[in-house]
Amino acid sequence: MPTLNWIGKEAVVKHHKDVPFRLLEPVADLSYGPAQGKDSGNLIVQGDNLHALKALLPRYAGQVKCIYIDPPYNTGNEGWVYNDNVNSPEIRRWLGEVVGKEGETLDRHDRWLSMMYPRLVLLKQFLREDGAIFVSIDDNEVATLRLLMDEIFEARNFVGTVIWQKKYAVANDHKTIAPMHDFVLVYQKSANWKRNLLPRGEEKDSQYKYEDLGGIFRPDNYTCAKTAEERPNLYYPVTNPNTGEEIWPKRTRVWAYSQEEHQRHVAEGLIYWGKDGKGKVPAYKRYKHLLRNDGVVPQTLWPHEFAGHTDGSRKELREVLHDIPSVSDFATPKPSLLIQRVLQIATDKESLILDSFAGSGTTAHAVLKQNDEDGGNRRFIMVEMDENIAQDVTRERVKRVAEGYSNAKGQTVEGLGGGFQFCRLSAEPLFDADGQIRSDVKFAQLAEFVWFAETGTGFTGTADSLLGVHEGRAIYLLYNGILKDKSVGGGNVLTGPVFEVLTFPPPAIPR
Ligand SMILES: C[S@@+](CC[C@H](N)C(=O)[O-])C[C@H]1O[C@@H](n2cnc3c(N)ncnc32)[C@H](O)[C@@H]1O
Repeated sequence: MPTLNWIGKEAVVKHHKDVPFRLLEPVADLSYGPAQGKDSGNLIVQGDNLHALKALLPRYAGQVKCIYIDPPYNTGNEGWVYNDNVNSPEIRRWLGEVVGKEGETLDRHDRWLSMMYPRLVLLKQFLREDGAIFVSIDDNEVATLRLLMDEIFEARNFVGTVIWQKKYAVANDHKTIAPMHDFVLVYQKSANWKRNLLPRGEEKDSQYKYEDLGGIFRPDNYTCAKTAEERPNLYYPVTNPNTGEEIWPKRTRVWAYSQEEHQRHVAEGLIYWGKDGKGKVPAYKRYKHLLRNDGVVPQTLWPHEFAGHTDGSRKELREVLHDIPSVSDFATPKPSLLIQRVLQIATDKESLILDSFAGSGTTAHAVLKQNDEDGGNRRFIMVEMDENIAQDVTRERVKRVAEGYSNAKGQTVEGLGGGFQFCRLSAEPLFDADGQIRSDVKFAQLAEFVWFAETGTGFTGTADSLLGVHEGRAIYLLYNGILKDKSVGGGNVLTGPVFEVLTFPPPAIPR
């Protein structure tokens, strides 16, 4: 199996392990919603996603149903808000530190791959076994990304490459072949992933415009594309019971059902003979309530009518943030409809969704919209590195669409509901250079870390000395305060008195 190599790869393949665990520091003033957004389960994290993902792992490993990311496309265009050629000071500094001197001479593809590799490795750890990741990309890196994803997520988990038609009009001044689309690469975490059917479109619903005692139905073709010679058993006369007329199919297009099946249809009243019942062409009554697959199989071609376009997405963003000057820097936010399609295919109403290149916050907007449309309770985690974007654009957009806002025309747009907690990353990691735990660490923070270190899964329990039971193994955390004794060593060591206050054995494990 071919693998991709580039200058700098060696330095980054294991780099995710060296990234220190930082703590998430909630910022009450920037959070929004009930109880400062904490209870909503939604998070906006400002920071480099390499560090943010590492900080989030102890809480969310193995719990995310759907990851959507829209990383820099690496187009080589300088100086716009998405730092598209991976030239941002943060990434340059990071490459300098991790790849070393060599990092300065890497070409932009080497740099992009070095940036993406450890982030994708971390992202994979967030996915549930029935989860999937969707990655937006264009021709600049689609070939390398495919190989990178094959290596990290395994080629057998490749689901498909979506072609999203991002433009509806060709640029007339384009010198060669005008690009009209982006790609979305889709990988499942494992074979446990099952895609959903898409909601049946209105145009299809509108076909169900007939009704009788059996319910609402649409007339379906009673013939099939076979000749009388090919299917002699399907070439026979049927009788319209209202006129007594005997009707034969054409020799080139015979009935779709055998005589026995037809007799059953007659007995069950499933043949439609037109509004007045005197038609010369039978049709099958396809009742809406009997549809087995009440939805449409998703496909890889996503026209702009289905998933929106960038012209519309710019307007969508400006509609909400019309008074924020920096919003005009956002040339290509994604349409919320594009991400709603991802959510419709890959999430259920209770899913957790992660976007670690949040930009203008389209994914959070799409989650709130989708919840509003289907009564869902999906939650999101957004990560954005740029401080100004995170506060003035990502956060502000999500707050406004949740709360309601006045658009550029001064019209009131109702809020979609929801809230979020805004977090930054601690400057100091959980462990200092000598491996000592920070002295100000809270029991709950340490509990998340210990549980993750022991189980590799995110901590969902409550921070009690018994953290929980994982695969038949109980995990306790003894830390200052367990005996209400905060002195050094008080409650940290498994002594007789400490043992007495532990719930042992845990209820889930029989004695
Ligand atoms: C292409 S944009 C995403 C656009 C977004 N989908 C939208 O609809 O607005 C990529 C975003 O990722 C951010 N970014 C780039 N590198 C990052 C990193 N290492 N950590 C977190 N965010 C990063 C950039 O600042 C930029 O806002």
